[in-house]
Amino acid sequence: KKNLVIVGGGSTYTLGIVMSLIAEKETLPLNKLVFYDTDAERQEKIAKATAVILKERYPELETFEYTTDKSKAFTDMDVAFLQIRTGGLKMREKDEQIPLKYGVVGQETCGPGGMAYGMRSIPDMIELIHDIRSYTDDAWILNYTNPAAIVAEALQREFPEDDRLLNICDMPIAIMKSYADMLGKDVWDLVPEYFGLNHFGWFTKIEDKDGTDYTEVIKEKIINEGFVPTDEEIANDESWKKTFAQARKMLMDFPEFLPNTYLQYYLYPEALAAKEVPDNTRARQVINGRQRRVHDQCDHIISTQSTEGIELTDDVHGVYMVKAAASLMYHMNEIYIVMVKNNGIISNIPHDAMVEVPAMLARSGPRPFSVGEVPTFYKGMMENQLAYEKLVVDAYFEKSYNKALQALTLNRTVTDVEKAKLILDDLIEENKGYWPEL
Ligand code: G6P
Repeated sequence: KKNLVIVGGGSTYTLGIVMSLIAEKETLPLNKLVFYDTDAERQEKIAKATAVILKERYPELETFEYTTDKSKAFTDMDVAFLQIRTGGLKMREKDEQIPLKYGVVGQETCGPGGMAYGMRSIPDMIELIHDIRSYTDDAWILNYTNPAAIVAEALQREFPEDDRLLNICDMPIAIMKSYADMLGKDVWDLVPEYFGLNHFGWFTKIEDKDGTDYTEVIKEKIINEGFVPTDEEIANDESWKKTFAQARKMLMDFPEFLPNTYLQYYLYPEALAAKEVPDNTRARQVINGRQRRVHDQCDHIISTQSTEGIELTDDVHGVYMVKAAASLMYHMNEIYIVMVKNNGIISNIPHDAMVEVPAMLARSGPRPFSVGEVPTFYKGMMENQLAYEKLVVDAYFEKSYNKALQALTLNRTVTDVEKAKLILDDLIEENKGYWPEL
């Protein structure tokens, strides 16, 4: 039995992770669960509700604690899930609004918003991992803090020898869940072939465990019927609806591979920026939607000391993290799409790129599968994005305005230097106290 710590315990995603830990308690049996957060108040609400949920549904769990004390959190721990958000949703909203002022995509991980968030996340992530490692050398650290691509690049530079630190994003599995729904299959029966960078990749094949290839069936379904998820919450969510319409468009324009939906921001930046409403970006929708719902649920659970009448479900994101952790710790050798150093996996892009590819997760860590050469269009797209990501991280470590400007200029959502300067100057102003001084 293992001891697990959730860093960022006060997140609106935490209840979904808790429900996933309960759903997967046989895959990853726990002895102790600890929440750690820097915001005591925010965490307390989620934690007090979690205590009720665990009492009802995970009575065999020996200990549940929540704390803002690092030594309490990280002593005697086997695995940590990292999901922090430096600056909170308040800064996310700024990341989304500032680029929109200049007609540029406003998104938390793509374009200038991703850069702003990346420069905020890097110092906190570096400090956090040094802290964790001062208590334990061998615990697994699964990081899905955003913007994952930039965070992964920075961590790779700061902790090049740490082979128990794995960056992992839920987007590939979330997309696979939609494919599974379309096919009427269980997502855990699908086996992907995929290549790319984080939030910037393509599925080249989707098979089931018997080896039946569904790639063409999925493409036809998306083109003919659209992308219709069976998950009601996603199906009714306005921002997801737009995403699914774009996924169809991308496939019609480039039918070779099945795209990660985040590519929409890089392929149709003008159209997407034009559709956004500055005072109702995704951050606002999350504040008024998921955050309010989760907090209301918690208040109800805490006041009645029961979960009766509250709809709580595990989610594909949480289950993915739990199963991946189990595969690593119990040497299960299952295949997950994760971020690793390229080292020739994609043979015609740089060796030191952090790529997102399928890997077998074993006790010794991820064992990625070779991809080989990718066609020119995809190589060009990735190299451009990779240069942007590396320049953001350079800008952080070197405190360089020039590198930050180069990064934004390269980003496909910006490209115009004058616009890049205006956006960068605004971002610097709004991120005072978070970013290093450039
Ligand atoms: C997906 C992505 C994450 C991203 C999240 C945002 O899960 O993989 O990288 O953080 O979406 O979701 P939200 O509902 O907060 O916009």
